[in-house]
Amino acid sequence: MDFAVVAQRLTKVYSGTTRALDDFSLIVKKGSVHSLLGRNGAGKTTFTKIISTILEPTSGSASVLGFDVIKEAKQIRKRIAIVPQEGRPYSLQTPYEHVFAFLVARGWSLSDAKTQAKRVLENLGLEEYRNVLCGNLSGGLRQKVMVAMAIASEPEMVMLDEPTVGLDPLARMNIWSVIKDLAKKDTTVFLTTHYMEEAEVLSDTITIMDKGKKVAEGSPNELKALIGATTTVILTGASDFSEALSFGEVYRSGSTIRVYTDEKRAKELALLAQEKKLGITLRPVSVEDLFVKLVGEMDESERNDY
Ligand SMILES: Nc1ncnc2c1ncn2[C@@H]1O[C@H](COP(=O)(O)OP(=O)(O)O)[C@@H](O)[C@H]1O
Ligand SMILES: [Mg+2]
Repeated sequence: MDFAVVAQRLTKVYSGTTRALDDFSLIVKKGSVHSLLGRNGAGKTTFTKIISTILEPTSGSASVLGFDVIKEAKQIRKRIAIVPQEGRPYSLQTPYEHVFAFLVARGWSLSDAKTQAKRVLENLGLEEYRNVLCGNLSGGLRQKVMVAMAIASEPEMVMLDEPTVGLDPLARMNIWSVIKDLAKKDTTVFLTTHYMEEAEVLSDTITIMDKGKKVAEGSPNELKALIGATTTVILTGASDFSEALSFGEVYRSGSTIRVYTDEKRAKELALLAQEKKLGITLRPVSVEDLFVKLVGEMDESERNDY
């Protein structure tokens, strides 16, 4: 088996106190899409910076594409591309200028860089904006420029740290389709996100982390199987609904209740909730349900910050 990332027992302590990573290990198979899922402050960016050779761990080791992140950082930097969490294109340059200059900086000849920049902008639907200053583009298009730069040099691995934060749903779908295309081409994709659906839709494998530690890992289906139920009922507007407890595992957040159960009992519960005039959603279990079970519900502001 070929591995793109092998991280072993990584710990990162900032300024002597904050333990951003705590004995954290993770393996990513070559050619796969792997997501690191966790709430804000879980340690996702810290981990991404370590495997992209930007930051050194306090202890532990990591290799990327077979190279050690500390001793062989240069080898890694040639082979990967990153879209950092805080990355923004330069306002006074166009998408074309960004991609072209980036390719030249990575060692491409002027004529190859020209052809490739044109091709990538076309593929990402940026052709009509190629000569517009990035300062005049929407947030979604600016993020696409960042992704265009990252993938233009055809790296073996792309690391995207929360690539869709702050984007509207349509722009988010756009980035998703770019990631899906990368996956088809055998590029290894490492993604961090706090959007459950994003991780579930895009990933071959997902690591759920919290407070610097691994909480669960597996394919979306493996993670869903860990819930031990098939159907989720979400009830809203319930001040007190203790009857739900007899239907399965119950998680409560404000006036919203999640019940993990099977399809038959979910329907019975829905009927009962209907009598009480509660809001009812009934659906198959999702990765988000496991997250709520293991880590807890995300705040509304964390979930919908666009
Ligand atoms: N440069 C830094 N100095 C001190 N603390 C930091 C620094 N960067 C991150 N942290 C802290 O480390 C923890 C993990 O942060 P981060 O890796 O950015 O998490 P995430 O990307 O999952 O939101 C948080 O508590 C954060 O405040
Ligand atoms: Mg982060």
